[in-house]
Amino acid sequence: MSTLVAPSVLASDFANLQSEIEMLNESSADYIHIDIMDGVFVPNISFGLPVVEAINVHAKKPLDVHLMIVNPDQYLKSFSDAGASVISVHLEACPHLHRTIQAIKELGCKAGVAINPHSSVELLRDIIRDIDQVIVMSVNPGFGGQKFIEHTYAKVRALKAIITASGAETKIEIDGGVNLENAPKLIDAGADILVAGSFVFKSSDPSKTIAELKEL
Ligand code: DX5
Ligand code: ZN
Repeated sequence: MSTLVAPSVLASDFANLQSEIEMLNESSADYIHIDIMDGVFVPNISFGLPVVEAINVHAKKPLDVHLMIVNPDQYLKSFSDAGASVISVHLEACPHLHRTIQAIKELGCKAGVAINPHSSVELLRDIIRDIDQVIVMSVNPGFGGQKFIEHTYAKVRALKAIITASGAETKIEIDGGVNLENAPKLIDAGADILVAGSFVFKSSDPSKTIAELKEL
């Protein structure tokens, strides 16, 4: 299976969001990654539901919504209604993760769990078969443009072993500081989906950069 690419619109030009989405539609991107930050779970505020709805009007690719918010349960239906295909919640924000995962699936969305750099992938072993994707954070969530954390490779290998041992079909998505240098090593370690914000949108030809990531 070829690598899947999910450009993060956090790094896009918000003043020209429609044309950015149209560029992604024409590109080889597989998903549109949307970062929701509440200023509580993470020390930054990005944007909310009206912006997701606006993106959904133009998007021809599935919306991969990454919730960096406390109490995500109370907003799951709203994000599903706004057009999310995949909803990922943070392990660190969910005391009843199994219940939250079931609620996402009942809405007809794929369910993802994101884990912070300090959280062990072992915490997912007992729930891995219920999860469609794990977002392994390769930076501390809250900002685009941060430096990739090298320990991520070891985490991806450990997570891949858990997935294989349990017979699950869970996909591994990497989020933060992804570029053409670390991407081959991430794929080698077991990554299925690469999120890339700055590396795509700050490049001279974003569509070409997406194609280069996909070709790996
Ligand atoms: C970080 C976000 C990422 C971010 C990635 O909190 O979850 O999705 O947009 O941006 P880059 O690729 O610039 O690190
Ligand atoms: Zn993200």
